[in-house]
Amino acid sequence: KNHVSIGLLGLGTVGTGVAEIIYRHQDQLMHKVGCPIQIEKVLVKDGTKERGWPANDIVLTENPYDVLDDPELDLIVEVMGGVDETKEYLIRALENKKSVITANKDLMAVHGPELHEIARANGCDLYYEASVAGGIPILRSLSDGLASDRITKMMGIVNGTTNYILTKMIQDSRSFDDVLFEAQKLGYAEADPTSDVEGIDAARKMAILATLGFSMNVGLQDVDIKGISQVSGEDLAFSKKMGYVMKLIGIAERDGDEIEISVQPTLLPATHPLAAVNDEFNAVYVYGESVGETMFYGPGAGKLPTATAVVSDVIAVIKNMRLGVSGKTVVTPQYEKKLKSDES
Ligand code: NAP
Ligand code: HSE
Repeated sequence: KNHVSIGLLGLGTVGTGVAEIIYRHQDQLMHKVGCPIQIEKVLVKDGTKERGWPANDIVLTENPYDVLDDPELDLIVEVMGGVDETKEYLIRALENKKSVITANKDLMAVHGPELHEIARANGCDLYYEASVAGGIPILRSLSDGLASDRITKMMGIVNGTTNYILTKMIQDSRSFDDVLFEAQKLGYAEADPTSDVEGIDAARKMAILATLGFSMNVGLQDVDIKGISQVSGEDLAFSKKMGYVMKLIGIAERDGDEIEISVQPTLLPATHPLAAVNDEFNAVYVYGESVGETMFYGPGAGKLPTATAVVSDVIAVIKNMRLGVSGKTVVTPQYEKKLKSDES
């Protein structure tokens, strides 16, 4: 075979973006990995839905095992969402020796360590850059760019939907429901937007960031969570008058072995750099003992920014496959501990 074959789980907002990038950037991708990349099959819930390009060039199926058990597929990209059923699908893919790329923070925040372990045991990669902060390569920055440092604090805006809602409520005096509806139409919100507006999506992302950044086991239960559903237009107008801007801020901080993580609506002085992060954009400050303060900024949700992160993971995984190092590059606290105990 002279190409890499992908099985895609999901062809909604992000899945369509992944397919578009793979078709449109084929020459560039070929240059990066040395061979064509093809999406061979896609799992969808409703195979009769009218979809248009690029779906009409791909085989669609409603049977997950058509994709997961197809020996012709080299790797699986999961952009369907969900937790329990999806976890079983990814385990099946990994046990079939197919590396997995996922954008699913709901899954990774809860079952990430277990899935990493299964990936490693099967000589596969599990990459999940798109699960935090959309198009910002924050996970790669933590695991590669800042790998030599000791991260002490991370703070920022990690949910695009709530930032979009707050921005439009403040700038245009629009109602919460009206802007939430628009954010759903634009593809920023989760299938059930409760997790966005109640701060749970941001909490999952902070747990993933803390797990990676602090090399600790951090779960959703470790995060104090408050969302923006109780924030009113009057609150925002009054804050603005007083020179403040309200943002949903996630903070993860450590002091020795103690960690404190929270997500909550926070009043920032209008001059604060995070106060200028508007619409669906995200920004994350990372503080390291040696590097000091770094800031990452970019689109935090939406079709093409998120798909960019997914396809960049596809490139990384194919490079690992070609180098024969799949399943050896995942670094999580759990993985490091397991390696140490295997060695001793
Ligand atoms: P979406 O637009 O709702 O698309 C979901 C896709 O998965 C649809 O094609 C749907 O099929 C398919 N699907 C869902 N459940 C299925 C099931 N049980 N069996 C088979 N197919 C199923 O969702 P999305 O916005 O693309 O998000 C996908 C994932 O990416 C989620 O984990 C989300 O948290 C994550 N993510 C999203 C964004 C974003 O900005 N949207 C950013 C970062 C991460 P049908 O088309 O037939 O309905
Ligand atoms: N619903 C999420 C958000 C998608 O608005 O940030 C990106 O993870």
